[in-house]
Amino acid sequence: MTTSFPVEKIRADFPILKGSNRGKPLAYLDNAASSQKPQSVIDSISRFYETTNSNVHRGIYQLAEDAENEYRLAREYIADWFSVTPDELIFTRGTTEALNLVAHSFGQIVLNGGDCIILTEMEHHANIVPWQLTAERIGARIVTVPVLADGSLDQDILSSHLNDPTSKILSICHVSNTLGTTNPLDQIIREAKQHGVKVVVDGAQSTPHQRIDLKSLDCDFFAFSGHKAYGPMGIGVLYGKKELLHEMPPFQGGGDMIDEVSFDGTTYAPPPQRFEAGTPNVADAIGLSEAFRYLAEADLCSASRHETQLLETAREGLQTIDGFVEHGTTPGKAAVLSFSIDGIHPHDLATLLDGEGIAIRTGHHCCQPLMKKLGVEATARASFAMYNTLEESERLVAAARKAVSVLR
Ligand code: ALA
Repeated sequence: MTTSFPVEKIRADFPILKGSNRGKPLAYLDNAASSQKPQSVIDSISRFYETTNSNVHRGIYQLAEDAENEYRLAREYIADWFSVTPDELIFTRGTTEALNLVAHSFGQIVLNGGDCIILTEMEHHANIVPWQLTAERIGARIVTVPVLADGSLDQDILSSHLNDPTSKILSICHVSNTLGTTNPLDQIIREAKQHGVKVVVDGAQSTPHQRIDLKSLDCDFFAFSGHKAYGPMGIGVLYGKKELLHEMPPFQGGGDMIDEVSFDGTTYAPPPQRFEAGTPNVADAIGLSEAFRYLAEADLCSASRHETQLLETAREGLQTIDGFVEHGTTPGKAAVLSFSIDGIHPHDLATLLDGEGIAIRTGHHCCQPLMKKLGVEATARASFAMYNTLEESERLVAAARKAVSVLR
C-alpha cells in the first residue's frame, strides 16, 4: 500500500531509519516520546562545534561574535516560525523546564492563597507537578477538568471552572501524549480570556505536526521540546507574552541574566535574558532552528494526512484482535494510538514487538492520573511521525497478532 506523500524521500533524510532493531529493520513508532533527527539537524550541530564554538555574550573576538550571531539568528528563525518576536522566546532544556519556569515565576505574581489553577486529567506529569509545587508554596488550589469516555474534555466543567472568580490560570496540553486528543484551544482560550484566566499551553505533542501561529492562538504561554520536533535533546522553548514576561521575576540566578550585581542588591536583564541564566545551549538552539527549517521544507498538511492514514491502518488492523481497546477515540485525533488488549500486559506485548524490530512505548506515559481514570496501570502506545510508512503500520498489526497468539 502506498500514499501520495513522498515518504521514501523524507526517510532518506533520517540516517537512523536505515538501521535495525534486534536484527530486524527498525520500525520506530515511539515518536511521541522523541522523534528522530534529519541529517541537516545533526550536521548543523557538528558544524557549530567544528567552526564556530565559543561562549556567547562574553567575548569580543570574532569567534564569539559568530557564535552570538548564530544564536541570535536561531532565536529569530524560531520566533518567526511561531509568528512571535524573538524577545518573547526563552530557550529552556525542554517542555518540563519551560513549564516549571512559568509555574514558578508567573505563578508567583498572579496567584494568591486560595486562588485556583485549572489543570485537566489528561496532563503529563510535567504539567501537573510544577503547579503542585507552586500551589503548595502559595497556598493555591488545583482543580481538574475530567476526561470523558472518548478522550475529550468535559467542556461544561471546564466552563464552570473558568467562571469561578478564584480561577487565575488554566494550564492545558494542546495534544494529549496518551490519547492523541487535540483540545479545541481557540474556543477554550477565547472563553478563558472572557474570565481573565491566563492560559498556559503544553505544546510538546502538537509542535512537530503543525505550524502554530501563536499570535492568533493568543495563549499567554506556550512550551515545547526540540527533541520531539525533529530537533536535538536538551533544548526547548517557552513563549510568553512580552508584557507578562516583563513582570515576572527570574527563575534561576547566575551569569547572563543580570543587569547589575552587588551585595546590596541585584537588578535583572530584560526578557528573554532574564530567564536564561548561565551559558546557553547554543549548538542545540542552532540545531532546533535547523529542525524548523526542515519542517518549512516539508509539506506539513500532507504529512499530517499521511500520519492519519498510518494511524487508521494500525487501528483497523488491531481492532480485529479480540479484546483490543483504543484509549482516546475523538474524531481528528493526532496520530497517537494508545491501546490495551485484554489479558495481555503491555510490557509483554512491547517486548515481543521489540523482537520484531518495532519500537513502541508502554507504561503510564507520565500520566498516572489519566491511567487511574482509564482504569489501567499502563497502555501500549504507537505514535507516528511523517517518516513512518504504511508498511510499518502493517508490520505493527502483524507482529501484535503474532504476539497475542504467543501470549494467550
Ligand atoms: N512525554 C514523552 C512521552 O509521552 C516522554 O513519551
